[in-house]
Amino acid sequence: MARSDAIDLDRLIELDKAHLIHPVSEFRKHEVKGPRIVVGGQGIELELADGRRVIDGLSGLFNINVGHGRSEIADAVAEQMRKVAYYPSFWDFSTESAIRLAERVVGLLPADRELSHLLFTTGGSDANEAAFRVARMVQALRGRPERTKILSRRHAFHGITRAAGSATRLPAYHALTSLDPAHIETAAPYCFRCDFDKSFPSCGLACAEDVAEIIVREGPETVAALIVEPVMGTGGIIVPPEGYFDRLQEICREYDVLLILDEVITGFGRTGRWFGMEHWDVRPDIVSFAKGITSGYLPLGGIALTEDVYATIRDDSPRGLPFMFGFTYSNHPASCAAAMANLDIIEREGLVDNARTTGNYLRERLAKGLASHPVVAEVRGIGMLVAIECTQPGTKQPVGGKPSSYPAKIARHCFDNGLIARALWECVALAPPLCTTLEEADRIADCVIAAFAEVGSGATQSS
Ligand SMILES: Cc1ncc(COP(=O)(O)O)c(C=O)c1O
Repeated sequence: MARSDAIDLDRLIELDKAHLIHPVSEFRKHEVKGPRIVVGGQGIELELADGRRVIDGLSGLFNINVGHGRSEIADAVAEQMRKVAYYPSFWDFSTESAIRLAERVVGLLPADRELSHLLFTTGGSDANEAAFRVARMVQALRGRPERTKILSRRHAFHGITRAAGSATRLPAYHALTSLDPAHIETAAPYCFRCDFDKSFPSCGLACAEDVAEIIVREGPETVAALIVEPVMGTGGIIVPPEGYFDRLQEICREYDVLLILDEVITGFGRTGRWFGMEHWDVRPDIVSFAKGITSGYLPLGGIALTEDVYATIRDDSPRGLPFMFGFTYSNHPASCAAAMANLDIIEREGLVDNARTTGNYLRERLAKGLASHPVVAEVRGIGMLVAIECTQPGTKQPVGGKPSSYPAKIARHCFDNGLIARALWECVALAPPLCTTLEEADRIADCVIAAFAEVGSGATQSS
C-alpha cells in the first residue's frame, strides 16, 4: 500500500475496531490489537495493508482452492451480473448458470452414487440445514414422521446455524448457547485420541460400533439421519481408518438411517479426489458442499440428493404440496457463474491431481523435518489437508499442560515469518490452495519446521 494511504489505514483500523464484528475473535483483545487488513492476493500469497506478503497456508478457511487473483472468475461473474444479476429460483423460474452448474456438478460426482439433483444454498451451514430438513421430510414421506433425530460425531463441525450448529460437536462453540436436543452425539474415528483407548485394527472399529449402539439406545424408529465429514476438518484433520465407512454404511442400512456426507471442506479437490467420498465405497443419501465450489470468490453451497431421495419427494408428496423449502438466494446465478469459472480452472490446471501429489510431498517433508521434535506426535492428513498433532512428550496431554496454547504459538511464529497456519485444538493445520507448487510447498514446510525448532518444547515461551 502506498505511503499516501497510510492515514487511511489508521482510520480503517479504528473503524474496524469501532464497528465490525469478527467471527471467532475475542472482542476485548481485538480492540487492543486491531485487524490485519488484506488488500490483495495472487496465487498462494496474500498482501496485507502494512505491506507484508504472507502465504495463505489455510486457503482462507479451507476454501480458496484455486488461490487468489483469478480475474477470470471476476469476469465470469461480471458477465453474468450484466445479463441477470439475480432472480429467485422459486416456483418455476430458473437461470442458465444455475442449470449448467447443476449439470456440471452431477457430472463431477461419482456416477455410481446416483446423486442426480441439486439445490444450491449460500454456504455450508445452510446446506446442512437443508440436508436435515430433507432427511426429515423423506422419513415422513416414507411413513416414519417420528424419525427426527440427527446423529453427528464428537469433534464434528457442520456449521453454526441452529441445526447445523447443534450437529457441530466442538464444545467451544456451545459455551454460551444450548444444543437442539434432537441432535445426538456419537464417537468419532479419531484414532490418535481414541474415545475407547484402543488402537486400530484391534479396536474392532469401536467408534463405528458406537453409532449402532447410540441408534439402538435412542430407538431406531426415532433417528432420521447420521451426518459425517469424510475427513473431519475443523476437528483436527481426522482421516478415518480402513473399513470405517463400510461399517457405517452397513449400520445406516440396517437401521434405515439416512446418511448425509458433509463435503463442505472435502469437495472439489481438497483431498486429491473430486470428492472425499471417492476414497471409500460410501453411498450417501444426501451430500452437502460449499467452500471449494467457488473457491470463496462468491458465497455458494448446496446439497445433492440421490435419485431415490429425490423421487420420494417427487412421488410421495401429497398432490398440491410443493417442496416447502428454499432461501431467497438459492441457486444464485452470479455465484453459480463464479463456480463455473472456478471449476474451469480446477479442471484445466489439473488441480485435483496436484492436491494429491503436492499434499503428499508437503506431508513427507513435514514428517521428515519434524521426526525428532519432542512434541510432534503425528503428521497426518490427505490431499491438501495436513495436521501436526502436538503433545507433551510421551503422553497425549497438551504441551505445557495448557490446552491448545502450543499450536497457537507455532501459528503466531509462522505468521511472523510469512505463513498463515492455523491452530486447531492440539494440532497445527495446513491446507494451502490446490495450485501450490512443490517449490511453494518447500517454503511452507521450511517455515513450519523453523517455527517448531524455534518454539522448541514450548517450556520457556510465554503464551
Ligand atoms: C465440514 C463443514 N461443514 C459445514 C461448514 C459450515 O460452512 P459455512 O461456514 O459456509 O456455513 C463448515 C465450515 O467450516 C465445515 O468445515
